[in-house]
Parts: sequence; C-alpha cells; structure tokens
Amino acid sequence: MEGLVKELNERMRGLSAREILSFFIEDFDGKIAFGSSLGAEDQVLTAMISGIDKSTKIFTLDTGRVFPETYQTLHETNRKYGINIEVYFPNSEKVERMVNEKGINLFYGSIENRKLCCNIRKIDPLKRAMMDADVWVTGLRKVQSITRVFTEVVEYDYLNGKIKINPLLEWTEEDIWSYIRNNDVPYNKLHDRGFPSIGCEPCTRAIKDGEDIRAGRWWWETPEQKECGLHRRNGQLKQHI
Ligand code: ADX
Ligand code: SF4
Repeated sequence: MEGLVKELNERMRGLSAREILSFFIEDFDGKIAFGSSLGAEDQVLTAMISGIDKSTKIFTLDTGRVFPETYQTLHETNRKYGINIEVYFPNSEKVERMVNEKGINLFYGSIENRKLCCNIRKIDPLKRAMMDADVWVTGLRKVQSITRVFTEVVEYDYLNGKIKINPLLEWTEEDIWSYIRNNDVPYNKLHDRGFPSIGCEPCTRAIKDGEDIRAGRWWWETPEQKECGLHRRNGQLKQHI
C-alpha cells in the first residue's frame, strides 16, 4: 500500500484540487466518498465535486450537537447544486447510555469523556458512511493545525483501511474565501461571526483577533489534543474525525 500511495502522490504533484478530484472520481468509479462538515473548505470541495459528477457520494456526520446554521448550510447546499448530501446519525442506544451515565455535557469533564463522545457521535458513524468506499475525500489543510503539518495529499488511513485524499492541503484561508466569493458558494453564516472552524456547538467558540484559526475548537484542551479522532495519524495514532 505504501508503494501505491507514494506513486499516487507523485502523480498528483502539480495538479489542481479539481484535477485531483477528477482523477480519483474517474479512477475509483463509485468507490469514493467525501465527508463534509459543511465548513468553508468542505463547501469548496462540494462545489467542485458537483461540477465533476453529481452522483459522487457526499455525506455529513450529524452528531446531534451541531449549530442551527450548519443545518441551514446543508439545506442551501443541496438546493444550490441539486444534490442530496447523505446524513449519518450516531447509534441512539449508545448516545442514551453515554448521556445517562456521564451527563449531557460530559466532554468538559475529561479528555477521556470528550473522546468517548467523539467516538460515539463521529467515529462510529464515519465507519458506516465509508463502508462501501475505498477512497475518503477530506478538506484537511496544513495551515489548520500543528497536528496537520505532516499530512500528505494522498495517505493511507490504516485505522479505517481507506485511501484518504486531501485535495486542498496547501490552500490558504485566502484561497478558500476567494473561491467561495468568485463561485458564489453557499457557506455557514457563523464564518461571518468569528468562527473560522466549526464543529459541534458545545465544543466550538468564536475566536478573537490574532488567535489561531482552531483556537475555538475544544478550547479548554491543548493544541496537540485538538483532534476528535477522525484524522488519526497512522502509526502514532494520528487522529482526525
Ligand atoms: S475535526 O476532526 O477537527 O472535527 P475539521 O472540522 O477540522 O475536523 O474538519 C476536517 C475534515 O474532517 C473536514 O474537511 C471533513 O472532511 C471532515 N469532517 C469533519 N467533520 C465532519 C462531519 N461532521 N461530517 C463529515 N466529515 C467531517
Ligand atoms: Fe461530542 Fe464535542 Fe466531540 Fe461533538 S465535538 S462529538 S459534542 S465531544
């Protein structure tokens, strides 16, 4: 697998994000899925994918704790592109057991509790969403976090057994917003209110001028801990959603 990933990374060198998506959509016919948080970078990818092949699977993980503005973005995006982003929910019995044993806002209590909540509300549903796919498209970017600087455009996610592609890896904040403006892409209105990175409502706050773009995510934890497990780094438990 390492050889294939290396070869694919070499083939992707110098290609635009759209070209990278086109290559994988054509080559992995129907076996590709894009997981969208409906945040700004993911809206760019949805716009590009809808322009390439509307039958490509796009899904979102609804943890049950997201902002109302995120649902509005989902609704507007489906309407604008004539697509149907698939929504995956967590297992209701697992959520009930967790909440009844540990409390509705357990995540503030300890890192273990926060990870348990992310596991039940995000990681388990991700596995279901990706069941039939070989390639997982994400909107990860290097500048988002110190946990993401060693990410590559093509990676193998050993934990999920999927090829993972990050077509916007080198994009800056400015690149994202130019694309959104120039292509009239719908976006989450929280981005206009100081939220550069948007996750679940209780675990996301607005940032102040000069703060890091992910400072508002799990703000009570240290930067190295701020991954929910979706994007785990291979080998050293490199976690992401
Ligand atoms: S997180 O791991 O900290 O929550 P972040 O919000 O930066 O992730 O998003 C990084 C990428 O993870 C997104 O571009 C998207 O591909 C994926 N992702 C995050 N949240 C979701 C979600 N709720 N549903 C589907 N994919 C998601
Ligand atoms: Fe739970 Fe917060 Fe993780 Fe959302 S981000 S799944 S509310 S711990």
